Amino acid sequence: MDRSVSEDNAELSGRKPWFRLPAVQALLMQCVALLIVLLIIVAVFFVTGFKLSFIDAVLIQGACAAALSRWRQLASWWLPMQFIFPPALLAAWMLHLPSGIYLFAFLIFLAVYWTTFRTQVPFYPSNPVVWTAVAGLLPQSRTIRFIDIGSGFGGLVLHLARLRGESKVIGIELAPLPWAASRVRAAFRRSAGTFIRGDYDHLDLGDFDVVFGYLSPAAMPALWNKACAEMRPGTLLLSYEFAIPGVQSQITNILTPNGAILYGWNM
Ligand SMILES: C[S@@+](CC[C@H](N)C(=O)[O-])C[C@H]1O[C@@H](n2cnc3c(N)ncnc32)[C@H](O)[C@@H]1O
Repeated sequence: MDRSVSEDNAELSGRKPWFRLPAVQALLMQCVALLIVLLIIVAVFFVTGFKLSFIDAVLIQGACAAALSRWRQLASWWLPMQFIFPPALLAAWMLHLPSGIYLFAFLIFLAVYWTTFRTQVPFYPSNPVVWTAVAGLLPQSRTIRFIDIGSGFGGLVLHLARLRGESKVIGIELAPLPWAASRVRAAFRRSAGTFIRGDYDHLDLGDFDVVFGYLSPAAMPALWNKACAEMRPGTLLLSYEFAIPGVQSQITNILTPNGAILYGWNM
């Protein structure tokens, strides 16, 4: 099995310097676009005497930010987001909603998504089809230590803890709201599942027999490097939906009609 990933792939991991993270680059491009728009407004006024409207300026800013994103080779989905962001900001401002609403929404998003701008792994839940498939791949004849790295609201851990009462089932989650909700759910269900708040990057994956992740393409190369460095021979790494570029999986179970795959690597 090829245990190495290329430098390029390592670059794609969450270990980029902060100023190279896509979300930070996108914000910087909006700032640069704002400067360009100001220059255009001044130039047009001095050359033609014509004053650009606020809406013109906002649309030009969106177009400039999208063009800069293309130039900097951000992923394609950033282009429409960059274009829509300034008009959306203007539209929200024109609604004249109480500012507390924005603060409230910001705090909720912060609690759920936390450092997604750095990890590039947002929250989206798996489902019982995935949980059943994962349960079917666990070693059956002995107790195991299982961890869901990025356990979200805890659905998988609670499910497995109920099925595998003899084993240790753990979830680790960075974002405070999903982690707190998992703890509350576990307490209400009297579940033996354990939830840790923290970064799986700081864990020793050698402590586990099965490691499961439902992360994102950006996180997979670094996860593979970490798994190779730490996981013991005979243990199992599972990933829902996201493969490891350039590394063949031994398990490739198609779980849904739209082709979502549960991948597995015997370490
Ligand atoms: C796609 S969700 C999957 C949730 C859950 N495993 C499930 O199957 O429903 C990924 C989760 O990983 C968390 N996460 C991302 N990077 C992390 C890290 N380095 N350490 C711990 N959790 C992380 C995110 O906050 C998010 O809740």
